[in-house]
Amino acid sequence: MPKTYSIAIDGPAGAGKSTIARRLAAELGYYYVDTGAIYRTVAYFLDLLGISPKDIDGVSRYIDELTVEIEYDEDGKQHMIMNGMDVTEDIRTQEISQKASLVSAHAIVRDMLLDMQRDVAKRHNVVMDGRDIGSVVLPKATVKIFLTADAEVRAKRRCDELIAKGQKANFEQVLKQIQQRDYQDTHREVAPLKMCRDSVKLDTSELDIDGVLAAMKTIIAEKIPL
Ligand code: DC
Repeated sequence: MPKTYSIAIDGPAGAGKSTIARRLAAELGYYYVDTGAIYRTVAYFLDLLGISPKDIDGVSRYIDELTVEIEYDEDGKQHMIMNGMDVTEDIRTQEISQKASLVSAHAIVRDMLLDMQRDVAKRHNVVMDGRDIGSVVLPKATVKIFLTADAEVRAKRRCDELIAKGQKANFEQVLKQIQQRDYQDTHREVAPLKMCRDSVKLDTSELDIDGVLAAMKTIIAEKIPL
């Protein structure tokens, strides 16, 4: 099998990972893998069954009834398929964000999803974003970047996104949710969000998307011929 390149982008909620990773993948001709969407799909499945994401007994009992698949359409957009059903849009709510953060703390859930993430990177050049890509999923990733920004800046960006989608946004509430997710994602026992020793940290608080992309390309060019 020919060697594949992998770019791991980790960081807290709202740091701009998905926007940047998607653009980067399109420019490089790589697959974009949004791993948060996989955890969101699990959260959505349990939600439909009325199971709390904290209820480890319930999660363990029903998780085997779930199949999660990633598909790509002709535009390269990632679709999440839950038991044969496309749930790509259904998983993008604030409620599912919180539930995904809680459900992702269970080892049984993380173990089940590990191979599917690694498989994509084995077969294709990827830009993969998440919380544990550099630390657990792809410890030998060609490039590891830790993307972050101040919580207030991230909350403001999330509000702008919600408003652009025609949804309501309350800054204080969004900020609280972001801080709560930061806490949960960094304090869980299994694969917590943390910066790896071989990651390059990029703070995007003062940068616009083009600025972040330019900075990322400089980091990537040290390892991958662009
Ligand atoms: O990136 P996101 O906001 O779509 O992720 C939703 C939640 O999923 C996040 O709060 C934590 C969890 N997650 C994770 O634990 N590991 C990943 N690689 C990606 C997401």
